Amino acid sequence: MSGVQTIAVIGAGIMGRGIAHAAALGGYRTILEDLLPGALRKAETEIRANLDKAVELGKVTAPDADSALKRLEFAGSVEEAAREADLVIEAVPEEMESKIEIFTLLDKICRPTTMLASNTSSLSVTEIASVTYRANKCVGMHFFNPVHKMKLLEVVRALETDDGTLATAVEVGKRMGKEVVVIKESPGFITSRLNAMIGNEAFYMLQEGIASAADIDKALKLGLNHPMGPFELVDLVGLDTRLNILEYLHKSLGDKYRPAPLLVQYVKAGRLGRKSGRGVYEYPEAAQTSSKANP
Ligand SMILES: NC(=O)c1ccc[n+]([C@@H]2O[C@H](COP(=O)([O-])OP(=O)(O)OC[C@H]3O[C@@H](n4cnc5c(N)ncnc54)[C@H](O)[C@@H]3O)[C@@H](O)[C@H]2O)c1
Repeated sequence: MSGVQTIAVIGAGIMGRGIAHAAALGGYRTILEDLLPGALRKAETEIRANLDKAVELGKVTAPDADSALKRLEFAGSVEEAAREADLVIEAVPEEMESKIEIFTLLDKICRPTTMLASNTSSLSVTEIASVTYRANKCVGMHFFNPVHKMKLLEVVRALETDDGTLATAVEVGKRMGKEVVVIKESPGFITSRLNAMIGNEAFYMLQEGIASAADIDKALKLGLNHPMGPFELVDLVGLDTRLNILEYLHKSLGDKYRPAPLLVQYVKAGRLGRKSGRGVYEYPEAAQTSSKANP
């Protein structure tokens, strides 16, 4: 047994709130934190709604959903969230500077035994861990969106990750209801690297006028049996998040990952996907409810 009882989740955006949902349902005392109080309120509303839906569909019992909500706490600062945690999972935006800032702070305030995980989709966990005095206790835990529904967890072994930390991350993932694959660190891991390639190619096709976005999505769903088209998926993931991943892959793996100019332009225009009400497609309802928490 790993001894993990309390998990802190830093960042309550698309991923952080899903990770908190799965952690609380997995039996962990879970403390969710975000810079923006609006993001925490939105996270609480969404977690409640998703648990209600799961009960309605018979996937979770009502007592289990109630207990999960009782295990869920919200904190207004990283210090408050992380000081009692056995494991901290960071889910702030996909920018190396932000991750480094959080890990530097966590290393100062957490107990020496606390493990630090990043939900990064592509960045080097070795580089993030290098700013701490506990690189052996740092690991990648790459969840998928929406976390409460998606089965996979990629556990990423960074250069200094020790066996105990790796085993604990796998065990926690399983308790959160996930199927776990363990991989050696490499830019984009398995899934983000393949997904970024497909999604980028789709933007090149759209920009070249080869077909409409709807037809490109239809072709991948009906011809290649993908459950979602690349544009439906990037609207869910966030175009800004995808662009950050591609820029990193481009820098680390070479020219075949150069972001399509149309994707760059959409991000500049603020077309970030569902969270901003408009990405490749339009989401009028989300536009009305979106706050600064999810720009
Ligand atoms: N969106 C996806 O589909 C997806 C899938 C897998 C992994 N990821 C990864 O998860 C991470 C988060 O992505 P997301 O889509 O949830 O982003 P998001 O923009 O939806 O949420 C990020 C949240 O972090 C908060 N934040 C920013 N700086 C902070 C700080 N210093 N302290 C506390 N909170 C802070 C923001 O207010 C925001 O609520 C990224 O590393 C991303 O690559 C995303």
